Amino acid sequence: MPILESLPERLLLGPGPSNAHESVLRAMSLPLLGHLDPAFIALLDRVKDGLRTVFGTRNAMTLPLSATGSAGMEAALVNLLEPGEPVVIGVNGVFGGRMAEVARRAGAQVTKVEAEWGTILEPGRMIEAIRTVRPRVVAFVHAETSTGVCQPVEEIAAAAREADAMVVLDCVTSLAGRPVELDAWGVDAAYSGTQKCLSCPPGLSPVSFSDRAIARVKARSTPVQSWFLDLSLLAGYYEGEKRVYHHTAPITAIYGLAAGLDRVLDEVLPARFARHAAAGERLVAGLEAAGFTPLVAPAHRLPMLTSVLLPERVQKAGEASVRTRLLEEHGIEVGAGLGPLAGRIWRIGLMGENARPEIVDRLLAALRTLIG
Ligand SMILES: Cc1ncc(COP(=O)(O)O)c(C=O)c1O
Repeated sequence: MPILESLPERLLLGPGPSNAHESVLRAMSLPLLGHLDPAFIALLDRVKDGLRTVFGTRNAMTLPLSATGSAGMEAALVNLLEPGEPVVIGVNGVFGGRMAEVARRAGAQVTKVEAEWGTILEPGRMIEAIRTVRPRVVAFVHAETSTGVCQPVEEIAAAAREADAMVVLDCVTSLAGRPVELDAWGVDAAYSGTQKCLSCPPGLSPVSFSDRAIARVKARSTPVQSWFLDLSLLAGYYEGEKRVYHHTAPITAIYGLAAGLDRVLDEVLPARFARHAAAGERLVAGLEAAGFTPLVAPAHRLPMLTSVLLPERVQKAGEASVRTRLLEEHGIEVGAGLGPLAGRIWRIGLMGENARPEIVDRLLAALRTLIG
C-alpha cells in the first residue's frame, strides 16, 4: 500500500492551517531550482518585497524563515536578548506565554504583564511595567489565536521606544488579514506564519527586523544562542549582492509563498481586510442566532479568529463529539479552546481564502443539522 494513499477533503476553519489556494498548490509543484540559482534568488527578492508590503515596512531585513511561526518567535527573541537582560512580555493567552518561555530559556529576566484570557493587555499596565523595569525588549501578540483578541499596538510600542526598548510583535494570525503597519507603529521585530491569512501551507515564518534591531544584534557582546536563527548569519544568504550558503532554502515552500503573495497583492490589502471583517461579522451574527456567545468584546474581536462560548445544548452533547461530527459528517474542522478555555469555547478561523460569506453559511448550515 502506498504511504500517501487517499486523503479526505477538509474545510479548515480552525485556528490554522487554513486551506491553501489552488494557485499556491500548483506553484508548489513547479520544477525545483537550486537555492543559489540566480533565477531563484530573483524570486526570493520579489517575495521579500511582497512581505514588506504586507508587513507595512521598508525594513531591509524582511524574509521568510525556513520553519513555522514558532521559529519567527524564537528568532526575534534570541537575537534581541542577551542573558540577564530584562524583558517585558504581555501574556493574555497561549502565545504570549510561549514568548515568555522562549525569553526565559534565552536567559533573560522576564517580567510578565498578565491579563485575563479574552481581554486585551491594558496599555496602561504595559506602560507602567516598561517605565519600572526599563527593559531591553517589550514583546506581545497582535492577534492572540488562543482567544481571538486583537491587541492595540501603538501606545505600548511608543512607550517601549521611549524607554529605548525593542518592540517585538507576534503577527502570526493577523498578517494579510487585517492591517499590520510595522513602520508606522514603531515595531522593531515581527514574525508571522504562512498557514493563516496568507493561505499557504505551514512551513515558513515571514519575519521583519528594523535597522535599529539589526544594530542591536550587531552590538551584542555574546553570540546568538541559536546558530540556525542567527540574523547575522542568515543575512549572508538573504541579503546583499553575493549570496552564500547558510542552509538550503525550502524552494517549494517559497514558490507557494510567492503565489500566495501574488493573490494577496492582486486583491489589494484594504479589500482583503474588508473581506475578512465582513466574514467575521457574518459569522458572529450567525453564531449568536444559534445560541453561541462571543468571548471577546466587539472592539477587540479578530475577524479571522472568532472565539465563542458554547450554548448549553453543545455542552450537553459534549463539545468534542460535536466537533468530531462536524469533521466526519461535514468535512469541517473548527478549533477547541486551550488552557483555561478548554471545553468552554470553540475557535473558528476565517483566514485568507476562507473569509467568504459562502463559507460562513456552509458552516452555519452544517451546525444547524447537528445542534438544531
Ligand atoms: C499567535 C501565534 N503565535 C505563534 C504561533 C506558532 O506558529 P507555528 O504553529 O506556525 O509554529 C501560532 C500558531 O498558531 C500563533 O497563532
